[in-house]
Amino acid sequence: MFRLDGKTAFVSGASQGIGAEIARRLAERGARVVLAARSTSKLEGLAEELAASGAEALPFALDLADLEAVEARFKELPEEFSQVDILVNNAGITDDNLFLRMKLEQWERVLRTNLSGTFALTRAAVRGMLRQRSGRIVTVSSVVGLMGNMGQANYAASKAGLIGFSKSLAKEFGRRGITVNVVAPGFVETAMTEVLSDEVRQQMASQIALGRFGTAADVAAAVAFLASDEAGYITGEVINVSGGLYM
Ligand SMILES: NC(=O)c1ccc[n+]([C@@H]2O[C@H](COP(=O)([O-])OP(=O)(O)OC[C@H]3O[C@@H](n4cnc5c(N)ncnc54)[C@H](OP(=O)(O)O)[C@@H]3O)[C@@H](O)[C@H]2O)c1
Repeated sequence: MFRLDGKTAFVSGASQGIGAEIARRLAERGARVVLAARSTSKLEGLAEELAASGAEALPFALDLADLEAVEARFKELPEEFSQVDILVNNAGITDDNLFLRMKLEQWERVLRTNLSGTFALTRAAVRGMLRQRSGRIVTVSSVVGLMGNMGQANYAASKAGLIGFSKSLAKEFGRRGITVNVVAPGFVETAMTEVLSDEVRQQMASQIALGRFGTAADVAAAVAFLASDEAGYITGEVINVSGGLYM
């Protein structure tokens, strides 16, 4: 069950954290995986790790914020990785500030990478899915997109935007055999949250029903499920992986 043999997956933001764990999980299930991000040395390290366990993985340098270049770059995928069956839009950044102090550049930087970058990459990848009349698109949003968060108006707007984006695509592409879903993590132990002070961490953990931060593996499991054949009748959904932080 939940095998992905013969499928090609493309994971953005695969150089670390949640994206790297998603790539590991998809490879474990039998998919060949394109590992995309800006830090090529990290991608190469992960590709070697996956190859050592018998998986096929391709490190692929990509800057999602360079919107005009994304489609052309996607076309440079080598033949054996070019028909993407599973697209995981995971790359994302934060640039926090209280709203009154937030600069327009902070707003635009986060929206550009998180939302417009996802638009550009999805448009490039969906063409092949339309041709073969099947595909899976799984986008990593955040519960912050559903519940808001102080100091994260830009990030929350981008993550809420991804939900509207995904539901719209679910409607546009449903009859073409493509499902489009969202995974919305809560607080997950990665570089993105390690900057938080102990006090903030404790305060956050106190709001989580399960009483702990999530792991990248918790998120990857939900993504791998949505990427599988078994999830074929699920589309336009948002699965919160937040330990009950948001219900
Ligand atoms: N950690 C959490 O608590 C949490 C909670 C909810 C949602 N999320 C979401 O989960 C996703 C992964 O987060 P994470 O915690 O694993 O963060 P992370 O450790 O900071 O990793 C972010 C990934 O995105 C990539 N990335 C950033 N800008 C990029 C760009 N312009 N082009 C291509 N790739 C880019 C980074 O690679 P390079 O720097 O190498 O390009 C990196 O691989 C994000 O969308 C985040 O918003 C995280």
